[in-house]
Amino acid sequence: MPKRRADWLIGRIAAKSVVAAALANVIPGDWPLRAIELPSGSSGMPYARIAPESGPVAGFAPGERLPISVTISHAEGHALCAATWSEPVDDGSRRTLGIDLGLVEPRSRELVATFFTEDEQRFVRDAPPWERDLRANLIWCAKEAVLKALGLGLTVDTFDLSCRPEAGLADPAEWPLAPADDAWRPFVATCSPGLVPGGGTIRGVWRSFPGFVGALATSSGRALPEGTFWQPGTPPGSIAPGPHQPHVQAKLTR
Ligand SMILES: CC(C)(COP(=O)(O)OP(=O)(O)OC[C@H]1O[C@@H](n2cnc3c(N)ncnc32)[C@H](O)[C@@H]1OP(=O)(O)O)[C@@H](O)C(=O)NCCC(=O)NCCS
Repeated sequence: MPKRRADWLIGRIAAKSVVAAALANVIPGDWPLRAIELPSGSSGMPYARIAPESGPVAGFAPGERLPISVTISHAEGHALCAATWSEPVDDGSRRTLGIDLGLVEPRSRELVATFFTEDEQRFVRDAPPWERDLRANLIWCAKEAVLKALGLGLTVDTFDLSCRPEAGLADPAEWPLAPADDAWRPFVATCSPGLVPGGGTIRGVWRSFPGFVGALATSSGRALPEGTFWQPGTPPGSIAPGPHQPHVQAKLTR
């Protein structure tokens, strides 16, 4: 099977199960995976709907769009996906998620200098040698996760946002980070006014997997109050709801 097709398939299989879990969180019951379809929107961002050829499910008609935000990333035969309940707000927009999975691999100084802001470059430069690749790939994933949450992907200048972890790597007391540490840790992206009206910050979480790093962000706008997106001590595979935060399902599949 061609790689692109295989990536697409593994992403869709993983994403359907997180979508079903996110739906069941709000509307308990059986959500058959075959009744869930995940087409791509015009920007490439996936969305969830009831498969047109399926019967109605839990009051949703065949072909109806589901109030769910879903996001998918693939790397080296793995897929990392997340989904959360996301109803449209007054202006018709929804809170959206963005996720990115990356291999922890060497990133050249040229790449860092070309795509990273001065703060991000400093964060990578200050790393002890064994953590340089993790930091560089973490920043890259965080940028992509935020840009996916905004529905943009890499269509904008990577200098329009500057990402920085808020704990873990930012805290020397936690060095070196265990490679398979299960914890999701917060990061913050400072965005230009061109990216987010009025500028401002977008919060996300990141974690390491053996050989990989993943990042998950949420669009601002329909903003989550600061600090509610991520809670310390949440189990791997899920991010617990905060006071204003619906459950976010996240899953790594191979
Ligand atoms: C989004 C992007 C950065 C991801 O690239 P990547 O890191 O190489 O690949 P990943 O596996 O991490 O992510 C791919 C997934 O991102 C999602 N995605 C693509 N474009 C997206 C967007 N604008 N917003 C949110 N998510 C997007 C898709 O789910 C895609 O997987 P799928 O094609 O199987 O549905 C890259 O595709 C990009 O910059 N695209 C630019 C926009 C574009 O060219 N769109 C094409 C119009 S169809």
